[in-house]
Amino acid sequence: MVSDSEEFVITELKLASKEVVKTIVDIWEEVINWHSSFDSDFALDKDGRSNFGFMVSKAIHDPTQTVYIAKKDNEIIGFVFGYVKKHSGFFKNRIIAHISDIAVVKQYRRTGVGTALMQKFEKGFAKQNDANELSLYVHSQNKEGVDFYNKLGFDIKLLSMRKKL
Ligand SMILES: CC(C)(COP(=O)(O)OP(=O)(O)OC[C@H]1O[C@@H](n2cnc3c(N)ncnc32)[C@H](O)[C@@H]1OP(=O)(O)O)[C@@H](O)C(=O)NCCC(=O)NCCS
Repeated sequence: MVSDSEEFVITELKLASKEVVKTIVDIWEEVINWHSSFDSDFALDKDGRSNFGFMVSKAIHDPTQTVYIAKKDNEIIGFVFGYVKKHSGFFKNRIIAHISDIAVVKQYRRTGVGTALMQKFEKGFAKQNDANELSLYVHSQNKEGVDFYNKLGFDIKLLSMRKKL
C-alpha cells in the first residue's frame, strides 16, 4: 500500500473555504481545458466553473460522496472526487465507488501523488462504503490517464460510444 510520502499529505476534505474550493476548481479547469484541446465537447460552459465548485462544496457534506486532496507545503497539488452507488435496482452484489475526477498539478505529476490519492479513495472511502468495485470514465485520447489507470489495475469493461447529431 502506498502511504503518504514525506513530500505530500493526503486528507479527506471535511470543510472547505472558498479559497480551497477555488484551488480545486482551478486544477480541474486546467484539465478540462486540456481535454478541450483535443475534444471540443469539453469546452467549458460559462457556468462550468461555478457548477463544479458547487458540486465539490456539496460533496463534502454528503456521506455518499468524497473529496480527497493532496497537499505539499500547505499547497493543494491534487484532488480526487467521487461517490458511491449502492443500489442499481437491477443487479445483485454490486456496490460501486465511482471516481468522477482526479487531477494532479502538472509540475507534481509522476511523483506518486495520483496513486496515493487513488489508494486513499479505495482503502478509505470505497472500503468504508463496502464497495466491491471501482469505476471511472477516461477519454479514449487521454493516454496518460489510461496508462495511469492500467498501472493501478483497471481494465476496460464497458465502451462508451457516441454519434454526433
Ligand atoms: C492521471 C494523473 C492523475 C496521474 O497522476 P500522477 O500523480 O502523475 O500519477 P503517479 O505519479 O502516481 O503515476 C503512477 C503510474 O501511472 C502511470 N503514469 C502516470 N502518468 C503517466 C504518463 N504521463 N504516461 C505514462 N504513464 C503514466 C505510470 O505507470 C506511473 O508510474 P511510474 O511513474 O512509476 O512510471 C495525472 O497525470 C493528471 O492529473 N492528468 C490530468 C488529469 C487526468 O487525466 N485525469 C484522469 C482522467 S479523468
